[in-house]
Amino acid sequence: MKPGLIFLLICLIALLLEFVECRKDQKATKNIAKSKKQNVEKKVKAAATAKSKGKRKMKKVSVRVPAKIFIMTQLLEKGKLQKPSDTVVIPSGERLVLRCKGKHISWAYPSYLDEENDGRFSIAQRKRYSQLVVANSTGADTGEYSCWALDCDTETCRKDDSKTGSTYVFFTDPRELFVPTNDYYEAIQLRTDRPTTLPCQVTNPLAQVSLHREFPPEVIPVDGKLITFHVKKGFVIHKALPLFAGTVYCVASYRGLMQSSTKYLLIYTNYPSAPPSAKITASSSSVPAGVNFNVTCTALGEIDIEVEFTWEFPGQQLGRPTYTRESQEPVYMDGQMRHLSQSVLLVDEARPIDDGLYKCVTQNLQGKTTVSTHVNVLPRTSSSQT
Ligand SMILES: *[C@@H]1O[C@H](CO)[C@@H](O)[C@H](O)[C@H]1NC(C)=O
Ligand SMILES: *[C@@H]1O[C@H](CO)[C@@H](O)[C@H](O)[C@H]1NC(C)=O
Repeated sequence: MKPGLIFLLICLIALLLEFVECRKDQKATKNIAKSKKQNVEKKVKAAATAKSKGKRKMKKVSVRVPAKIFIMTQLLEKGKLQKPSDTVVIPSGERLVLRCKGKHISWAYPSYLDEENDGRFSIAQRKRYSQLVVANSTGADTGEYSCWALDCDTETCRKDDSKTGSTYVFFTDPRELFVPTNDYYEAIQLRTDRPTTLPCQVTNPLAQVSLHREFPPEVIPVDGKLITFHVKKGFVIHKALPLFAGTVYCVASYRGLMQSSTKYLLIYTNYPSAPPSAKITASSSSVPAGVNFNVTCTALGEIDIEVEFTWEFPGQQLGRPTYTRESQEPVYMDGQMRHLSQSVLLVDEARPIDDGLYKCVTQNLQGKTTVSTHVNVLPRTSSSQT
């Protein structure tokens, strides 16, 4: 193309754009004519409403979200104060001094420190801050230290969520790679409905940690998906599988030292994700006296999840002889295997005392669901009386 032609084209485009702008303005003020291009119209409308809103509401409505204030500082040697980072590493034996700003401060720290009464651990509230001291520290003091300000009036105190502070402190102990625990052996439920933590916490974030099975002795691969390692928590099993059940332990190594953790007995527990979903139906809601009837309670749930049934019904207190018939079966539904549990309450020869509410309580490890239905017992018909 010739340069002259390009120039002409650009001019034309510019003109067109001008025209569109002009049309927009017209619309914004009059807002009548319909544009062929709905897109443009929408945009213009939006702009117009935005404009008018902007004019009407000059005052800005600001939602007050209190800014988070980190109130913790760490007192270092020679009186120097510094904001602790997410994790702090201190050689065991040394002193940890943390301060949190505020007149009323609450603390959280490894619970084991509460059992200490040899004067190594103290918390003191000063005029403008609270100070936590762990003297002659040991690897066992490793853990999360956090504080939060309290808003107090003359009677009560409330947690002020905007003013908090926390840090995870490793007290590196050259002889103890794992944070000691009271138990040599710990049983942990390996629940199918949530992740399981093996709390083998290390005293040194640089230690190499692996997970082991006791029998057969083998290393359990930690793939970073099914099982992950967190330096502050230990191992987390994200999906409980029956094959993980049994005794496992962690092994830590650092600079030629290798140590085993507490042993964990993992007990595989098939947990439902929710209480049973139950339904109840009576063979008939109105039964003539003398006639047999039954009430069926069904619970549909995840496969291999047991459901327990209990019944409450009018004749119960009076010792009305009743029987239940229970059954379980896997069923294929909506593209997956489900477990259908059923309990049928059989009532022979209905009597007036059987009239009333029939309640079925279904229960699994996650909770209870109660369903109920009414059964009306009708008086004997004259024909059956004779
Ligand atoms: C810390 O240990 C030293 C030496 O064993 C001892 O003299 C001191 O009293 C201890 N301090 C505390 C607060 O326990
Ligand atoms: C319950 O009652 C209905 C209707 O009388 C009957 O068809 C059914 O077989 C009964 N169920 C049981 C388990 O007895």
